Amino acid sequence: MLYTNPVYQALAWSLILPFAAVNAALTARNSRLHTELMENAPPGITYRIPQGTRSWTSSSASGSRVTTTGKKLKPVHVQKLHPVRNGRINPRSAAVALGAHQRRLGEDGLGYENISSTNAYGTQYSTDATWDGTPLRLLLDTGSSDTWAAQQNFTCQDFSGHTIVPSACGFASPQISGFKYGLTDPIEHMYIQYGDSELVAGPMGFSDVSVGNLTVKKQQVCLVNRAYWFGNNMTSGLLGMAYPSLTNAYLGDKDEHSHGENTVEYSPFFTSLVEQGQIDPVFSIAIDRNASTGVLALGGIPTGVSGLDRGRTVSLDMIITNLINDPDTAAEPSFYTIIPDGWYYDQTTNAKKYPYIVDSGTTLCYLPPKLAQQINQAFNPPGVYLWMYGSYFTACNARVVPVAIILNGIKFWFNPKDLIYRDVVDPMSGLCMTAIASGGTGPYILGDVFMQNALTIFDVGDAKMRFVPRIRY
Ligand SMILES: *[C@@H]1O[C@H](CO)[C@@H](O)[C@H](O)[C@H]1NC(C)=O
Ligand SMILES: *[C@@H]1O[C@H](CO)[C@@H](O)[C@H](O)[C@H]1NC(C)=O
Ligand SMILES: *[C@@H]1O[C@H](CO)[C@@H](O)[C@H](O)[C@H]1NC(C)=O
Ligand SMILES: *[C@@H]1O[C@H](CO)[C@@H](O)[C@H](O)[C@H]1NC(C)=O
Ligand SMILES: *[C@@H]1O[C@H](CO)[C@@H](O)[C@H](O)[C@H]1NC(C)=O
Repeated sequence: MLYTNPVYQALAWSLILPFAAVNAALTARNSRLHTELMENAPPGITYRIPQGTRSWTSSSASGSRVTTTGKKLKPVHVQKLHPVRNGRINPRSAAVALGAHQRRLGEDGLGYENISSTNAYGTQYSTDATWDGTPLRLLLDTGSSDTWAAQQNFTCQDFSGHTIVPSACGFASPQISGFKYGLTDPIEHMYIQYGDSELVAGPMGFSDVSVGNLTVKKQQVCLVNRAYWFGNNMTSGLLGMAYPSLTNAYLGDKDEHSHGENTVEYSPFFTSLVEQGQIDPVFSIAIDRNASTGVLALGGIPTGVSGLDRGRTVSLDMIITNLINDPDTAAEPSFYTIIPDGWYYDQTTNAKKYPYIVDSGTTLCYLPPKLAQQINQAFNPPGVYLWMYGSYFTACNARVVPVAIILNGIKFWFNPKDLIYRDVVDPMSGLCMTAIASGGTGPYILGDVFMQNALTIFDVGDAKMRFVPRIRY
């Protein structure tokens, strides 16, 4: 079965609510700004503003269990996340994908370029799942849409495509032997090549996938039988939570997957949950500094997240950033993006507008170069730029100034603990990396150090990103 725009088609049943009118005023106010920013997109980037079809709205964000139309909300399912720290940058995070993209486009000296060569720590999160009844861990990825696991006896390859020992790919056991419901008909395969040449490919079929006590029966998934992968020995595959229309399935079993040709859209895991009426079309992520108490909530917001300041919940238009013109990459990485009002630091407000990707796979925040420099210079002692890392460093016990990002008029403060990233110390100088890095030509990134200070709600049904600030913890 082919879908053109799975979530929204699926939700045609659901009401096009009267909220549309309320949102219209807001949209009018923002649309000129959006158009301007979209037109000034950095090279190789496009933005898309998805249309919402169904509002989940602030009534639920403030704790009530019904929408303003009185429609009862479905239960929320919460799944604990496990941080996965590699001794290296996560090669699939937005920061690295943008860096690889800029290098390919020849944008030299513009910020992200040195990221993938640093020893900065990348943090990813994994979730417990079951796959046709087999328990395993999957990386949680808000930057892609397909769900896959390594197949038993898969071929592990090196950079040049030569077969190497399977353990070199770093997949955890168990690996999956086959699809409970067999292959797709007609035959389809998945092929994803990431910015740094990592590659996963294999046949697509149907399996039962469970996460957070929810099961999608007969979910279209891939069993990867060929990989060039920098695994962490902790996860067996990946759960893609990105925008539903961005799956990477292609007709046939050959490596025919050039842009647009043979592409088959299907309903990914999150969309399937919504289509099957199991959850409302929203998910949210709360991560805690330095602790394995992060949660993914499917269908709403989690309970028990400490210090949520619900009265200051904000709602911004969801924008999708796509990386394009990427001949080596069949996949078109895409990211959940917002346009903040600006930044506040050291009693200064900078209200220039830029799009920012919200990415739990990126550790630091990446800002326009000049602003990153101004904030770092306000620290005492001032942060210095170390080109080897592409980031700023200061004394590990530096005095930081208050820093906030302004979202819909509300200041989201960074905890001072998060402004100095003590996990990365430059061995030569003994200085610590700061949380505010330079993001070149953009788009810019709000990484873990931001997400630790807010609950992030991906309200896909309403095409809104919502944020609830967390009181300092
Ligand atoms: C993997 O290899 C083993 C040993 O050769 C074999 O028994 C098993 O069936 C294979 N699994 C798959 C999925 O091909
Ligand atoms: C999972 O779902 C089952 C059936 O709906 C329920 O009995 C059980 O309590 C749930 N478990 C959790 C941890 O939510
Ligand atoms: C995973 O295990 C392999 C083989 O034991 C090892 O070579 C590799 O360094 C490990 N990778 C990580 C990230 O720990
Ligand atoms: C994180 O945890 C480690 C070990 O428990 C501790 O040494 C470190 O200070 C913590 N870092 C922060 C930022 O709280
Ligand atoms: C990136 O690293 C190279 C050396 O490998 C250096 O010459 C260049 O200035 C660096 N670029 C930035 C933006 O720091």
